[in-house]
Amino acid sequence: MRAPVIRTPLPGPRAAALIELDSRYVSPSYTRVYPLVAQRAEGLWVTDPDGNTFLDFTAGIAVCSTGHCHPRVVQAIVDQAHELLHMSGTDFYYTPQIALAERLARLMPGDAPAKVFFGNSGAEAVEAAFKLARWHTRRDLNIAFFGAFHGRTMGALSLTASKTIQKRYYSPLVPGITHVPYPNCYRCPFGHCEKKCGIECVDWMENVLFRTSVPPEEVAAIFVEPIQGEGGYIVPPPEFHRELIKLAHRYGILFVADEVQSGMGRTGRMLALEHFGVVPDVVALAKGIASGMPLGAMIARADIMDWEAGSHASTFGGNPVSCAAALATLDLLEEGLMQNASDRGRQLMEGLQRMQLTHECLGDVRGLGLMIGVELVKDRETRERAVDWRNRLVRAAFKRGLLLLGCGENSIRFCPALTISPQEVEVGLSIFEECVREVNH
Ligand SMILES: Cc1ncc(COP(=O)(O)O)c(C=O)c1O
Repeated sequence: MRAPVIRTPLPGPRAAALIELDSRYVSPSYTRVYPLVAQRAEGLWVTDPDGNTFLDFTAGIAVCSTGHCHPRVVQAIVDQAHELLHMSGTDFYYTPQIALAERLARLMPGDAPAKVFFGNSGAEAVEAAFKLARWHTRRDLNIAFFGAFHGRTMGALSLTASKTIQKRYYSPLVPGITHVPYPNCYRCPFGHCEKKCGIECVDWMENVLFRTSVPPEEVAAIFVEPIQGEGGYIVPPPEFHRELIKLAHRYGILFVADEVQSGMGRTGRMLALEHFGVVPDVVALAKGIASGMPLGAMIARADIMDWEAGSHASTFGGNPVSCAAALATLDLLEEGLMQNASDRGRQLMEGLQRMQLTHECLGDVRGLGLMIGVELVKDRETRERAVDWRNRLVRAAFKRGLLLLGCGENSIRFCPALTISPQEVEVGLSIFEECVREVNH
């Protein structure tokens, strides 16, 4: 069974030299929680410049959906690069963008025809949805959730309510956005116990928010992550999205699903919303869509995407090489990787739940498919957040050759590539358990 190989103290001498150079020339705004320098990678294995090899349970923040450098994705990129690198889909036509738009439009749940706008990132996909919602509805206001992360451009940032540091000193942001509580059943914002809430999050919007401060007929859209990502990998109760979309449609409000992190097969379905039986009006996609090439897509029902020529565009959005990578990615997802996400997700979830029986600090284990979060607590009863343990655990895993990332205040996310094997799941679980023991003693 392949395991991580750590040959040097971390960072090793070559990695350390690069990190020193980085500190001189690269923006200090990035958040590097441990000193990994990636030199090359394949599948789930990342090698640094000193020859250390790591098992990657982050997939470059849920991006390398088909694993690092999947040969079919690489081949599609190489073939397309020989054919056409760029022409700008804003001004001209080319095959990969059209072909990908057709594939993505068909992914949209429901029978209504859909259309696609292309950008380069998650923030751009959300930004496009934000603008389209205003354009189509001619309404000024919007609703998003506490804990939400929608990106860092000014519009997407205005919808974001994840960490104050992301917003500090950037005001005034786009006005007219109200944040409301997300249904986190482990820490119910309304003080209910699990699964006995009657979806008060939605009722509260209608009975309090819409009656006291936000006129619903002025709201363009509700932006929601089907599973909250950066906020802590939080899975809402099954009825939540169904009730939310009913509320939205009662008032002519668009339901915008931000599937940037949860989409592209990660949860075992192409879109996470499919688990909840909801047909959204607009979907934002990015991250896993092109296995690592920059691409964002905003898909909307064709009758909603009614803006006129010139109202929105992007020079690089829908770049032919990124579109070719996305087409190869979609093939791989449909040929079996989505099923693997489901199967391996179950294995990982069961392994973590077993661990929860012996490790008190694993307060909550939740997720769908390969989007799994583990919340660390000091005490099971009080659910006191173990922020320092989480941070130590992520660093301890790195030292042992397992790449993990945090999310929320005190959670760890598991978002490996959808190509993960049963053996790789087991290796990851056993390193994780060693780290849990280390930080908890
Ligand atoms: C749900 C969600 N939306 C939007 C974004 C922003 O994506 P990007 O960093 O590609 O702009 C992210 C990134 O983490 C995300 O998780």
